[in-house]
Amino acid sequence: MDLNQIVFGVYPYIALSVLALGSVIRFDREQYSWRSGSSQLLRRRQLMLGSVLFHLGVLAIFAGHFVGLLTPIAVFDALHVPHSAKQMLAIVAGGLAGAMAITGGLILLHRRLFDPRIRATSTFGDTAILAILVTQLCLGLGTIPFSLQHRDGHEMLKFMNWAQGIFTFQAGAAGYVADVAWVFKAHLALGMTILLLFPFTRLVHMLSAPVWYLNRRGWQLVRSKRDMPRRPLAAAPVYSAIPAARPSASPKTHPAE
Ligand code: HEM
Repeated sequence: MDLNQIVFGVYPYIALSVLALGSVIRFDREQYSWRSGSSQLLRRRQLMLGSVLFHLGVLAIFAGHFVGLLTPIAVFDALHVPHSAKQMLAIVAGGLAGAMAITGGLILLHRRLFDPRIRATSTFGDTAILAILVTQLCLGLGTIPFSLQHRDGHEMLKFMNWAQGIFTFQAGAAGYVADVAWVFKAHLALGMTILLLFPFTRLVHMLSAPVWYLNRRGWQLVRSKRDMPRRPLAAAPVYSAIPAARPSASPKTHPAE
């Protein structure tokens, strides 16, 4: 088995299996960790701008990739959409969305790397997945000069055949992308790696976002003091009933513990 077959014929199935199984297992076992890990409280203005640009761009790219790669070629032909028009749409719309997403992504990455408070509250995974997505955006945008050399759309058909071949379990699917330019191969390989890493990162919020987030007023659920009913001081601290959680608790005052 050659390297092309391993990366584009076997790896897609490993990535998709880890994506599906990993997401189900994480949702089942660690629902409290199923979140975007918002840092909204810190440096909000930069977050707003970066996040809006990044999310709008990435969502457009996601929709474009999904429809563009997985719609059967026969459907475009039946609708009389020339391959050259589809290729130009991918370049122009994908390019604009990519430019938007990378601007937002760089703002978010700058904020995460250079704001000491956000850096201190970020996990390695938070920063790494953002850096990987920005790298993927660079590679995606880097495909455009190559796609411009194939405006008739014949190169794009290879990617469609490959993606659809993978989803229909065609043994020779990897062959479709055997001779494409290195930047496409790097983009496809990193794309599959993102799918593989997905269940282990904050990206999981994508799966629940359409269901749980859209109806929400803010981005982060923050319980404000103003919303809390006023209680007499003596009754307030719940932890006073749990000696171990009391700040002043010590073995001396509670020998029984
Ligand atoms: C397994 C996942 C992915 C696959 C298979 C994939 C595939 C492709 C292909 C084949 C192209 C070239 C389209 C053409 O001009 O014919 C492309 C372009 C591009 N990709 Fe991806 N991609 C993946 C993930 C991503 C991700 C996660 C991002 C962004 C974070 C991204 C961003 C872009 C951008 C900006 C372009 C250039 C504009 C365009 O042609 O649409 N891709 N991708």
